[in-house]
Order: sequence, then C-alpha cells, then structure tokens
Amino acid sequence: MNTHPDRIFFNEVATRDGFQIEPDFIATDSKVALVDALSDCGYAKIEVTSFTSPKAIPMLRDAEEVMGRIRRQPGVEYSVLVPNLRGAERALEARADELNLVMSMSETHNLANLRMPMARSFAALSEVIARVAGQTPVNVSLSCSFGCPMEGEVALSTVLAWARRFADLGVRGITVCDTTGMAHPAQVSRMVEALQQDFAALQLTMHFHNTRGMGLANLLAAVQGGITRFDGSLGGLGGCPYAPGASGNISSEDAVHMLQAMGYDTGISLEKLLAVARQMPHIVGHEVPGQVAKAGRITDLHPAPEFVQALRQQFA
Ligand code: COA
Ligand code: ZN
Repeated sequence: MNTHPDRIFFNEVATRDGFQIEPDFIATDSKVALVDALSDCGYAKIEVTSFTSPKAIPMLRDAEEVMGRIRRQPGVEYSVLVPNLRGAERALEARADELNLVMSMSETHNLANLRMPMARSFAALSEVIARVAGQTPVNVSLSCSFGCPMEGEVALSTVLAWARRFADLGVRGITVCDTTGMAHPAQVSRMVEALQQDFAALQLTMHFHNTRGMGLANLLAAVQGGITRFDGSLGGLGGCPYAPGASGNISSEDAVHMLQAMGYDTGISLEKLLAVARQMPHIVGHEVPGQVAKAGRITDLHPAPEFVQALRQQFA
C-alpha cells in the first residue's frame, strides 16, 4: 500500500451529473444557493452545470443564469461540461474556469449520448481545444472507460489510446469515468497504474458511480494506487440519461467521511458538507442514496438506552 498522499482533491458534480437526470426541473434559485453553499465546504472544484443542447438536457437549460449568479469563492474552480463548439462559446461567455469535454469510450454509448461516432466527437472536441487554447484549461471526461452497458467490455488499451490523443492536444486533465458502475477494484488498480505510467504530467481524476455497490471500494483502490483527484456527488445523485440502468455517483459526503476516518486530508469540512447533504432530499424532492447523512459520522455517538444502566448495576 502506498503512503498517504498530501491531499485528496474533490470535484463536486451533483449540480451537473446529479441534476441532469432529475425528473423535475430544479429551480434556478435552488441551484445557485446549493453551489454557493458548496463553495464554503472546501472543494477544489465544482462542476456547476453543462452547456449542452436544452433539448438534450432540459434540466440544465438555465446554465447561463446559474453561472452568472453564483458567488465565486477564491480557490474553488467552477467547471462546466461542454459537448461541442457551441457549448464552448457559451462556457467562455459565462467565464467558466474549466471546460470539461466529454466523449465515450464505447461507440454505441457515444452515438446514444452525443449523437455521433467517436471519430467525429474527437474531431469536434479537437476544434474546441484549439478554440480555447491559452484561455481556459480543458479537462476531458472519458465516459464508459470501465465498460459499456450496451457493448460490454472496454479494453484498457482503448482508454489509453484516446487519452494519448487528447494529451497530445494539450489538455490539462483527463477524467476516467465509470459511467454505469461496471468497474471493480482490481480493474481500477490496473487502470490507475497504466495511467500514471503514461500520463504523469496530467491531472488525473476518477469518476465512479455506485450502481453496483462498488463505488467506495473503487475509490479506495484508486487512492491506494496514488490518484488524488475524484468526482463525487452530494447525496449520491447522478447518472447518464443515455446509459441504461445508470444510477448515482459515489456520494461525496460518504467518500470524504471514509477518507477522513482513514487520515487523509480532503480539505473539506465534513460538518458543513453533511449540513448541505441533509438539504438534498428537500432540494430534489425525494430520498437520496448517501448514507452518512442519515447514519451520522462514526464519531457521532448515541446515548445508551436507560435499561443498560440497570444491567450494568445488575452485572456489577
Ligand atoms: N448549446 C445549446 N444548443 C445546442 C448546443 C449547445 N451546446 N448544441 C446543439 N444545440 C442545439 C442546436 O442549435 C439545435 O437546435 P435547433 O434544433 O433548435 O436548431 C439542436 O441543439 C440540435 O443540434 P445538433 O447540432 O443537430 O446537435 P444534436 O442533436 O446532434 O445533439 C449534442 C448533439 C451533443 C449537442 C446533444 O446531444 C447534447 O447536448 N447532448 C448532451 C449530452 C450530455 O450532456 N449527456 C450527459 C452527460 S455525459
Ligand atoms: Zn457520471
């Protein structure tokens, strides 16, 4: 096992990955208030929204207004997801700190999500990267890197080859996404080792979903392999609208709780984070999967029932 890295950096994606799949539109006021509350928690980055087609992702059709109204906390990067050149122009106009481009590692998922073959996506994203070069850093999220719900297995070599092509275009970072929770810890260890060998100069982020209950195990495998950047979603919201069976991201508060218990520095105030996490069911209007907000921290102790005192005396 590796020694502890100095610091783990979290990118909160609830207002993008989470809200994009919610059945009911979340009011712009609620989105702005949530991002502002998250800005006080100690995140390195917040993926605020996406500049996608409002027909494709109607839940995030208020992206301009949200970006215009949030309070920008120094030290926090405000990132946005961008699918094409049109989205990039909108993101620049909105003064996003980072553009997060997206492409799938499966042809079928790319066609479903982005309406074009991977080769065309790459050409389109190359144009975006050229357009914003020297202005705004670019991250590329590689969806379905650990498997596709329609095609099945995705080879590690496929992910490495696409990551290489984006690295050669000068992107700042790559996020390797387990879009539908198909990864397992042994696979994550192999991925992480290969990525670090080939792309040591890039910001490498892992994006896990807890679809099959392996989310935190996968995160731990990545941390132990030396990865220091993770996406998480408050309450465990999230999922891709074009991935059958997709469900929530790893819950940010559960991940931070685990890492802090193990002695890692996440820079995040768990107390503040849990207070915000506990508002999530009210914001989205339903229960959310995150567990620590319900159970409390391992250090939040409960008083013993009264009869225990009587038993103590009886057995004294
Ligand atoms: N912002 C706003 N509008 C956009 C846009 C953008 N970034 N990109 C395209 N549009 C509009 C076009 O103007 C057009 O509008 P019209 O029908 O009123 O003329 C419409 O969307 C279709 O445009 P087209 O270029 O034909 O795109 P498309 O239908 O092939 O859709 C995407 C391609 C990628 C833009 C669209 O599927 C999309 O935004 N997908 C989002 C994927 C996503 O975020 N998934 C979840 C996260 S992984
Ligand atoms: Zn996701």
